[in-house]
Amino acid sequence: MTDFLRLAEDIAREAGEMILAKRPTMSAEIETKSSPTDVVTTLDKASEELIRDRILSARPGDRILGEEGGEAPGESDVRWIVDPIDGTVNFLYGLPDWAVSIAVEVEGQVVAGVVNVPARGEVFTAALGEGAWLGPERLRCNTGVPLSQALVATGFGYFKERRAVQGEVVGQVVPRVRDIRRGGSCAIDMCSLAAGRVDAYYERGVNQWDFSAAGLVATESGARLGGLHGRPVSPDFALCAAPGLFEELHDLLAGLNPERDG
Ligand code: IPD
Ligand code: CA
Ligand code: CA
Repeated sequence: MTDFLRLAEDIAREAGEMILAKRPTMSAEIETKSSPTDVVTTLDKASEELIRDRILSARPGDRILGEEGGEAPGESDVRWIVDPIDGTVNFLYGLPDWAVSIAVEVEGQVVAGVVNVPARGEVFTAALGEGAWLGPERLRCNTGVPLSQALVATGFGYFKERRAVQGEVVGQVVPRVRDIRRGGSCAIDMCSLAAGRVDAYYERGVNQWDFSAAGLVATESGARLGGLHGRPVSPDFALCAAPGLFEELHDLLAGLNPERDG
């Protein structure tokens, strides 16, 4: 497991350095994906290419799921889950909260995760059963925070119908919590939770490449991660907070029927 983490961290750092070095000349080249505001830059693609290349040189035969390149079928028990840039809109606008996210899954369980935030010089890591870390610092999420005092991170998808529902839901959450944050990167939101910078996170519509690495960072910091009504975390719904706050926020959200798109 430590070998997986070391390799994932080396690769995430290399991709981050490449993006920072090439960014001044390449970030203007963008295409749109699922909607006019869902963008991919040349550097998202270059980052994923570098990451795939490094994984396969070190571990030929492993499977890789990447946001930009999808997943090729394979036999290996080991699957790497990659978001080459999480927070592409922040990246495009010159905001610092974008990350390279790499998780390693063995037989369907995430065992190692790295979230590199190059513009902040921060690297979050976690290994299953071995804790979550920001550089050398062991992370513990905030505990004992009641919902009314909670600082809650969330995000919005790229489709206008879904966004309209998400706006309605967050409108019901705002008066019941300390405040809301919309950072622009699911992976960083969950790592921020692990570091005690927010108390909770929820979002509909995030994918495995968004939450796999950061999900391990969060759970290894003591947080609970799941979906609604006892289901596991999935693109349907992601909810993360320390036990206690998780249940309180769950009950508020479940009552708002947030798994709809219009
Ligand atoms: C997005 C970010 C954002 C979240 C969106 C994601 P991308 O990923 O994580 O915070 O709200 O749902 O799609 O497109 O920047 O990789
Ligand atoms: Ca993403
Ligand atoms: Ca991305």
